[in-house]
Amino acid sequence: MRFGEGSSGGEYLKHAEGAMDSDHVDQLVKRTDDAERSVRWRMEVERALAKVAGHLDLDADFDRAMNMALQEVGVLVRADRSYLFIVRDGAGVMANTHEWCAPGVSAQKEQLQDLPVSMVPWWMDKLRKGEVVNVPDVLKLGDEAKAEREILQAQEIRSVIALPVFVFDKLVGFVGFDNVRTTAAFGADELSVLQLLSKIVGSSVARRDYRCALLVDAARRHEAEKEVAGTLERLRRSLRGTIDAIARVVETRDPYTAGHQRRVANLARAIAQDLWLPEEVVDGVRMAGVIHDIGKISVPSEILSKPGRLTAVEFELIKAHPGVGYEILKDIEFPRPVADIVMQHHERMDGSGYPAGLQGGNILVEARIVAVADVVEAMASHRPYRAALGENAALDEIERHRDSRYDPDVVDACVRLFRAKGFRL
Ligand SMILES: [Fe+2]
Repeated sequence: MRFGEGSSGGEYLKHAEGAMDSDHVDQLVKRTDDAERSVRWRMEVERALAKVAGHLDLDADFDRAMNMALQEVGVLVRADRSYLFIVRDGAGVMANTHEWCAPGVSAQKEQLQDLPVSMVPWWMDKLRKGEVVNVPDVLKLGDEAKAEREILQAQEIRSVIALPVFVFDKLVGFVGFDNVRTTAAFGADELSVLQLLSKIVGSSVARRDYRCALLVDAARRHEAEKEVAGTLERLRRSLRGTIDAIARVVETRDPYTAGHQRRVANLARAIAQDLWLPEEVVDGVRMAGVIHDIGKISVPSEILSKPGRLTAVEFELIKAHPGVGYEILKDIEFPRPVADIVMQHHERMDGSGYPAGLQGGNILVEARIVAVADVVEAMASHRPYRAALGENAALDEIERHRDSRYDPDVVDACVRLFRAKGFRL
């Protein structure tokens, strides 16, 4: 035991009790000195451990807190060097991660990295069993610890104590204290301090590992999310490609509507954006717009490109195209109800549309948007049976039917786009 030096109450007692038997006085003096030192030691221990525990508990900077703890306790037990080794028993390696050295004592940490645990079998065996490795005199280590003796001697260590650090039941490292200048061993009082320290270090390592695990987890999750987002984007691109290909099929058969679907899609998307609809709705509107007339592949091309008025039978054939489009698209998995939008793009708010004669709120908002965009684009462009009527005539038409056929909000957004925001087909 190596308590602090300094004056003690013993001197005073010696003088005061002059008449007493000198042996008795010596004993009294010794007991008083011991008691005083013991109290002082306890106070020092409490102060140091409170400080160490406080830092390791609260300090987010694990390295800083650990270095401070090693210094604090190293000074307290008068070690020449104190250190933490982290052991990765599964991988069979260990490393000196933190170290404190008393003034004039050489540091060892740099050369004690990535060491195989098998080089100190006796030492590791004790630690794994939860035992303290206490070597009061390195030279006296027996042959069962021959490897350890040679290594410690090579580092000029004269006495050493190492305590296992456990996280739950797993050995994760050890804290060690060397003496290189004296052979002063570590006694029972120091041992109890060190045991407390190793427990504090254990919980602190556990917390640090937990924090790291959380960070790693967060990083992995971020990677996974990025991958999912990438996959979705690729799917979206391939879906767009498919839709464009389908759209071209219709347009090659019907040159007059060539580009019609694309322009309807652009206008419909702009209207949906102007109405501040959610992004996925905007996306659905655009996709449906691009293929809204897909059902026209069932209509003979002479009817589609016929100049002049259609007969009743011909018109019936034309009216079937939303339903045919729905049948083509219904089994394709779109993120939005594209098939339903296509089915409803000729429905009108007042029930005057086809094929089902749906009214108002029974018509999907996406279909109400495509309907307005479809009418505006069709009137503004050239048709086999008439010349282009122009944008103004088209806007007048939807405004005229703003409160009957068309959704007033959609009409207002469309008019706003052309007249206030400079939108062009
Ligand atoms: Fe149509």
